[in-house]
Amino acid sequence: MPLEPAPPKAPTLVLPPERAYDIARGFDLRSLSPDFYADPYPYYHALRQHAPIKAMPDGSWLLTRYDDILPVYRDHKACSSDKKKEFGPKFGPSPLLEHHTTSLIFNDPPLHTHVRRAIVGALSQRHIAAMEPGLAKLVDGLLDTMETKGEVDLIADYAAAIPIGIIGNLLGIPAEERGPLRDWSLAILGALEPVLTPERAVAGNTAVTDMLAYLEVLVADRRAHLRDPNVDVLTRLILGENESERLTESQLLHQCIFLLNAGHETTTNLIGNALYALTEWPAERAKLIAGLSDSAAIGKAVEEFLRFESPVQLGNRITTHAIVIGGIELPPESRITIGIGAANRDPAQFPDPERLDLAREPNRHIAFAFGIHTCAGLNLARLEAQVALTRFLARFPDYALAGDPVRGGRARFRGFLHLPARVAL
Ligand code: HEM
Repeated sequence: MPLEPAPPKAPTLVLPPERAYDIARGFDLRSLSPDFYADPYPYYHALRQHAPIKAMPDGSWLLTRYDDILPVYRDHKACSSDKKKEFGPKFGPSPLLEHHTTSLIFNDPPLHTHVRRAIVGALSQRHIAAMEPGLAKLVDGLLDTMETKGEVDLIADYAAAIPIGIIGNLLGIPAEERGPLRDWSLAILGALEPVLTPERAVAGNTAVTDMLAYLEVLVADRRAHLRDPNVDVLTRLILGENESERLTESQLLHQCIFLLNAGHETTTNLIGNALYALTEWPAERAKLIAGLSDSAAIGKAVEEFLRFESPVQLGNRITTHAIVIGGIELPPESRITIGIGAANRDPAQFPDPERLDLAREPNRHIAFAFGIHTCAGLNLARLEAQVALTRFLARFPDYALAGDPVRGGRARFRGFLHLPARVAL
């Protein structure tokens, strides 16, 4: 017997004008209400309308309009990704500081160009496509286990297990040693929230230290026993394309940590958010299930999930000189927060943006950012989501939520910690 479908979700955003104005005026990223974590979009809507270049009480700026954000991504000279000045006082001399200031995402050219070349080479389209059979096998194993259980947590049992398995495969981490990966990743990324609590700092520093110690042994062993560079990403990163492009030991270890972090929670959130959204939008779900054999339709659906509930909601840049954005001059050294989630619901770019439209076209979302720092793992993320969703829906078309979803409670990354569901009767 099919499980009860959820009632159709009203695709409207109701916000009285005076409330929108007040929200925009009082908005502070460092002091967010539980309502915001549950549903940030009315807040973003209010900001786009009344304060699209919003000065925060701490002197930083939050941008929420698509058209104001693209030029920031484009002008990487004026809008730097180098976080040394910002993270120095935030983290103090610490493993977290060393990690976050070494990874490519928080650097400018030429260091960024050097490291990115190595990573992009290691994650080329050809290598990603070769991962599909291993990915399908991993996914089918998880589906089998869930079918036996009947009641599952769609995050722990599925959405989080896929990227951990894939990145474990990518770096060649033995299956029995993957246990701590997820907690390390959550702790290191947790330290990037707008407010760094002492608990988050301790957890983040411990995770960087423990993971570095683990990777030192893994990398030393791989150096001693190099694998086929056509198959093994870590071997490719160790060898580089040529000597001048080779990474230093410290760069290598920190990029490995970064790959885990960049590819884990983000992809978990994409898959988890998609499975949740489908419970809220039954008509879209029915259409998707009816067209599961159409890979182009699945591809489009994944793009819409990326837009609709962007797994990474916020990005950051710092100005190197004065620039004008949306008619407002920002002085040098202005800290900018890029509202990815807000831009991806901007009605000036996306007609009817609060509606999940799995066939949306065009769909020029910025969930993977834009410009020289565009996500280097986007092909892998897309493949993981496409395989995960297609095989899940083919196996469990009638899945339903079976308890209260628990959100991650973070502003930068949007996703669930737990998503209890019934997949089989
Ligand atoms: C749904 C999944 C994902 C999302 C939404 C996502 C999102 C992003 C975003 C927004 C950025 C740009 C950050 C900035 O501009 O400062 C980025 C960068 C990056 N991502 Fe992803 N990502 C995902 C999955 C992955 C995966 C699976 C990997 C690899 C295993 C990966 C590797 C990277 C790398 C290496 C960068 C740095 C690029 C650079 O600075 O040049 N990402 N990602």
